Amino acid sequence: MNPLEGKDIISIETLAASDARAIFDLSKVIEPFAFRQRVTRVLEGAVLANLFFEPSTRTRISFGTAFNRLGGSVRDTSGVETTSLVKGESLRDTARVVGGYADVITVRHPQTGAAKEVADAVGVPVINGGDGIGEHPTQALLDVYTIEARIGEPNGKTIAIAGDLKFARVIHSFVRLLSKMYEGINFKFIAPNGLQMPANVQESVGSTGRKHTMTFHNSIDAISDADVIYLTRMQEERFDDPAEFQRYRGKLRIDRKTLDSIAKPDVMLLHPMPRDSREASNELDHDLDGDPRLAMFNQTDNGIPVRMAIFALVLDVADQIEKTAHPVNWHVPDKF
Ligand code: CP
Repeated sequence: MNPLEGKDIISIETLAASDARAIFDLSKVIEPFAFRQRVTRVLEGAVLANLFFEPSTRTRISFGTAFNRLGGSVRDTSGVETTSLVKGESLRDTARVVGGYADVITVRHPQTGAAKEVADAVGVPVINGGDGIGEHPTQALLDVYTIEARIGEPNGKTIAIAGDLKFARVIHSFVRLLSKMYEGINFKFIAPNGLQMPANVQESVGSTGRKHTMTFHNSIDAISDADVIYLTRMQEERFDDPAEFQRYRGKLRIDRKTLDSIAKPDVMLLHPMPRDSREASNELDHDLDGDPRLAMFNQTDNGIPVRMAIFALVLDVADQIEKTAHPVNWHVPDKF
């Protein structure tokens, strides 16, 4: 029995912990197909509509790559300006039309709730690739998959989350997923005053009844006892007033010296990317590139098996992947 057959993935709130576990289990099986050791054509003939109405590099390309690596075809939009939304078409009409063309829809949109609106308009599964300041559930799934791959289930661990916690949807999904999958996490929320974790996310943590703790900080020094640090960007595009963003940028930064002097020696450092590398921000310094503590590129690589697993489950082909499997027949480098 596949509990995700035909389902939408809109929010971590409506995803069961057992659903996330099914995605992780299949992601592991799919890794050889994601990491270019084996090929499957299990979704040959299927079409993904990858509707992106906001900028994206990782999510749009990895959704498309994941679908292609299952043998399916992808049709993309990139930005609102190339679609008929600019002629006044409603999102609902756009969704209904595309639902007639594609077998599954992924959507990113600047408005919170937009992915649900698309899902309500169509019969095919819809996967949220980020809706405003709401959620980014597939990012959270690949983040937590990356944590488990390195340190196992993070029950009882101290997880420090630093940056723009108010507007960063990846954080909202990440905290919700951790709090429903595990026991006794010590959450340390580190943000400048004014950008702290929204009340509804804090309530989600409390509603699990799983004895998590939450403490609130505004200095990066609070990472000192963390087993895992998750740093995120100040979300410039969410501020109505550019001057307000300028007040926050560069307030929380991590570089090699910070980790060496403050953090546990074996800490795991995550970032969802993009990192803001402009000098005035430079939240995550390039001097940590290649440092074994930094798991950021493990996260981006894991976007492929996790998103392949999601497509295979919602389209209910997980048990057929082997039928068309064969080794790759092109040159694959040892290191991507
Ligand atoms: N992490 C993430 O959502 O990146 P993109 O905005 O590039 O998709």
